[in-house]
Amino acid sequence: MFSRKILFVAPEVDPFVKVGGLADMVGALPKALAELGHDVRIVCPLYRSVRRLGFWRPRAEPLGIDVGPSALWARTWETSLPGAAVPCYFIENDALYGRAGVYGEGNTSYPDNDRRFIALSRAALTLCLQLDWIPDVVHAHDWTTGWVPVLLNTVLRDSPLGGAASVFTVHNLEHQGYAAREAVDYARIPPSEFHPRSLEALGAANPMKGGLYHATKITTVSPTYAQEIRRPESGCGLDDVLRFRGADLIGILNGIDPDAWNPATDATLPARYGPGDLAGKAVCKDALQRQLGLAAAPEAPLFGVVARLVHQKGLDLLAEALPALLATHPLQIALLGSGDPALEDAFRRLATANPGRVGVRIGFDAALARLVQAGSDAFIMPSRSEPCGLTQLYAMRYGTPPVVRATGGLIDTVTPYDEATGGGLGFRFHEATAAALAGAVGSACATYRDRPAHFAALRERGLRGDFGWGPSAAAYAQVYDWAVHARRGGDLAASA
Ligand code: ADP
Ligand code: GLC
Repeated sequence: MFSRKILFVAPEVDPFVKVGGLADMVGALPKALAELGHDVRIVCPLYRSVRRLGFWRPRAEPLGIDVGPSALWARTWETSLPGAAVPCYFIENDALYGRAGVYGEGNTSYPDNDRRFIALSRAALTLCLQLDWIPDVVHAHDWTTGWVPVLLNTVLRDSPLGGAASVFTVHNLEHQGYAAREAVDYARIPPSEFHPRSLEALGAANPMKGGLYHATKITTVSPTYAQEIRRPESGCGLDDVLRFRGADLIGILNGIDPDAWNPATDATLPARYGPGDLAGKAVCKDALQRQLGLAAAPEAPLFGVVARLVHQKGLDLLAEALPALLATHPLQIALLGSGDPALEDAFRRLATANPGRVGVRIGFDAALARLVQAGSDAFIMPSRSEPCGLTQLYAMRYGTPPVVRATGGLIDTVTPYDEATGGGLGFRFHEATAAALAGAVGSACATYRDRPAHFAALRERGLRGDFGWGPSAAAYAQVYDWAVHARRGGDLAASA
């Protein structure tokens, strides 16, 4: 394996700015790659919400971005990922990024998202030229940066960046970034790319599709999702493209940053704990119950939820199942999330109707997310689809067995509990129905009450599990090698 120069271009990166798991992935994988000896750098926009952690340095040279009829100008701020030798460059252009949100505010997307992310894709590549640092691989993430592989294959093919391979990771196929045809002109991509075998879909520009057609290699975030999206029923209209590119599509499971997510060192928790010693977890449960207005009942099985409240996550099934579950089991619910206003209201109403039993916090709160993981006895994730999912990994790492629907990365990460042997990591159900979810929550309650040794073993296996990036970072390094090889031709040694 060779040491590579790898540029990540991404719309979010933890701990600076995060909407969902894409940020966790982009904040963690580069660290693991740097530890393997690769020179990894990250480019992301400077939104108003970016937290300026650590040391930040503006670059003296302005950055001209080749978009639209006349170039845009930006300033670049340089910092690094906390605790890692990974430079991060934030692109400052207030007209495009100086806003409160990443993709939008409330439930409304910004109307100029096509331009904002075309500019990001362009800026990242121009910055490489300015730094005189030509990556071997540019690693783009989801629709926002689907423009990158298209640019590298077209207008930049004969530039110094033309030898750079691209790897395009699908984090979530449900969002494709549909834009007006004019976006292609704004990107200064030849109009001939507005074609069904490139950027065009349903008469509009689709950067997810463009990325899939043009990337040297495609990855997605779990092996099962890599299979699912090739099928019409779960390909979100792009299954034909994914089958066409099938030989270059690889599913690699996301890892977690085991230092950032560790109940034995997590300074945000009221007490810490680890394998074999759960006293601190009981303290966290008590704090969570207080914080969310739940009854201080150490023996009640407490189920946590941390999620975007959107259709994909299936939490409407939980809202539907809860009244009957609360009537038949002594459980409590601690839910943190925001999203669909109707679902937010449904959970607020459930909290009002069940004081002391259902605690709901609508919003985004990184510290409370950790307390929910630590203080709960089990974690609910009824996703209709889940490319990988990170919250079930955090839950297991925090000794909180997850209850998941059998889909995507949840199948690959949560081995089901086996009543006969006591083995497994969590509870699984199949149908996306309230009844099936209620059945699995009921089994978790029964195990908690009637087979405490089994429940303790589930917790312990999670606490001792290795969910880090080790094997997956090595798999990405291999994909980078394949991509370089494919881009440059010849044998692997010649691509070094
Ligand atoms: P997705 O990316 O589809 O939202 P993941 O499970 O991969 O799902 O990642 C979600 C990430 O966002 C996790 O780090 C989770 O803790 C975090 N998260 C989701 N909702 C909230 C919230 N309301 N407050 C704080 N963190 C949240
Ligand atoms: C997406 C997916 C989620 C995945 C995350 C990080 O947001 O919905 O399943 O874990 O990206 O790859």
